[in-house]
Amino acid sequence: MAERKRVGNIDVIICEDEIEAAKESANIFAEAIRQKPNLVLGLATGGTPVSMYKELIKMNKEGELDFFHASTFNLDEYVGLSPEHDQSYRYFMNTNLFDHVNIDKSKTYVLDGLTKDIDRTCREYEDFIKKQGGIDVQLLGIGANGHIAFNEPGSSKDSRTREVVLTEKTIKDNSRFFEDESQVPRKALTMGIATIMEARKIVLLATGSNKKDAVKKALQEASSLEVPASFLKEHDDCIFVLDKDAAGGL
Ligand code: GLP
Repeated sequence: MAERKRVGNIDVIICEDEIEAAKESANIFAEAIRQKPNLVLGLATGGTPVSMYKELIKMNKEGELDFFHASTFNLDEYVGLSPEHDQSYRYFMNTNLFDHVNIDKSKTYVLDGLTKDIDRTCREYEDFIKKQGGIDVQLLGIGANGHIAFNEPGSSKDSRTREVVLTEKTIKDNSRFFEDESQVPRKALTMGIATIMEARKIVLLATGSNKKDAVKKALQEASSLEVPASFLKEHDDCIFVLDKDAAGGL
């Protein structure tokens, strides 16, 4: 049974394992979509959300959840990778969620990593989120260095969608998905911290002991540029769904 507690301003759900964390977080999204079928979802990539997406796919296949009226915005994308590249976040979303549910793919938005006009692409992404009415529920992972989306340590609280340079730590951590470290793009486009904080509800999912320091700092230390996830304490509807390992430092 998951344990629920409040740490400062944040509701924390501590699950037995990754499977329970996937189910808990999937239930939050499923409930939100049932209440508002045309929900605007903010979605994340990385290893962590894969099990949660599997839960959502299962619900959809069993007729318990309808994605048809929903739209989605992804947090980030690598610069230089085409949507067909198997490590692009567009490809990730198609293969891990969109291809398996009844979502209207024309309403799934991922930043264009091949754009020739970065400023315009980023500006239009922000405008488009606003035009859709803003993000209702945003899913986040967390990097081992406390990054959210690709907002690395040092990112300003006022940051918006923009191009960023990835840290050596993130390149190393993400190299497990590529042939080797040299293949990991050095730059990315990402929603900013201010963009993320405008979501009406935020769900941060973290599993595994390599996340425990980042989770602890985010929840228990004062907000600081060094730990981008620490700004989440200033959001008034933010939930952390953790497994026991990621919650180990609390
Ligand atoms: C990448 C993504 C983040 C994600 C992080 C952690 O850097 N841009 O959005 O939270 O990885 O990923 P993982 O779940 O694989 O640990």
